[in-house]
Amino acid sequence: MALILDGKSLSKKIREELKKEIDSYIQKGMRNPNLVVILVGEDPASQVYVENKRKACREVGINSMVFKLPENTTQVELLELIGKFNGDDDIDGILVQLPLPSHINTQEIIEAINPHKDVDGFHPENVGKLATGKSDAIIPCTPLGIWIMLKHYKIPTFKRDVVIVGASNIVGKPMGLLFLKNEEAPVSICHINTKDLRSYTKKAEILIVAVGKPNLITEDMVKEGVVVIDVGINRLEDGRLVGDTDFGAIKEKAYAITPVPGGVGPMTVASLLLNTVSIYRKKHGFAPHPLTEV
Ligand code: GUN
Repeated sequence: MALILDGKSLSKKIREELKKEIDSYIQKGMRNPNLVVILVGEDPASQVYVENKRKACREVGINSMVFKLPENTTQVELLELIGKFNGDDDIDGILVQLPLPSHINTQEIIEAINPHKDVDGFHPENVGKLATGKSDAIIPCTPLGIWIMLKHYKIPTFKRDVVIVGASNIVGKPMGLLFLKNEEAPVSICHINTKDLRSYTKKAEILIVAVGKPNLITEDMVKEGVVVIDVGINRLEDGRLVGDTDFGAIKEKAYAITPVPGGVGPMTVASLLLNTVSIYRKKHGFAPHPLTEV
């Protein structure tokens, strides 16, 4: 039976420590960290994610301002709103929840966010810093959360064969870049056009799956002793929430595995808080939060 990587309890521990840290700033007469979250449209999953982020912020003492905009919001209106917060010195972080409605040019929106307030780390300036191994990159929340979890559970990463399934800008690509930093480990990133997925997953010592397809990875596709990180969140017809891997069977073969729910999801939220506090710290002349430095 595998070690269960409990993102829920680790995230709780990080949030408790962040609360103490923010309390200490308030004691010194400093303001609370401020995060703006912009949600456009009615996507039900996005509404849940944004609500989770808002609650987590409130718990630790980050003021989050959630702007819920109608589906028919225009590109110009969104750009104007972002421009307003870019210019407001009291706003530390700006997050635009993705996906955006199809009439919005998402890349232009991402690029409009001040890279120093880009808590998601999606701006090309932060992506470029991560790709070139610069230490001041803001790292996207899901890869950062996974990294923090691997380190917390003392999972060896050096020289391990890492396989990532899913090549998104949000998870797969930045996750790969984290392992390439300091030549930590070789990485294969697979995606929809990978001819023989099994030939990659079978070789993996660390397997990270972020596709959004229940049961994509079955027990016969992994090797004994693998570490499995399941980023998928899929709602089945019977209402159950499952990841992209066959947790029940793989847990008997793996060295460690993340559950869904309670694995990667809470770590993504913890990382958002960490990135926000890190930006706030830098603005006040302090070092970034150590957990955001990879
Ligand atoms: N949609 C799914 N994951 C994310 C994320 O980490 N950040 C944003 N902004 N949108 C998302």
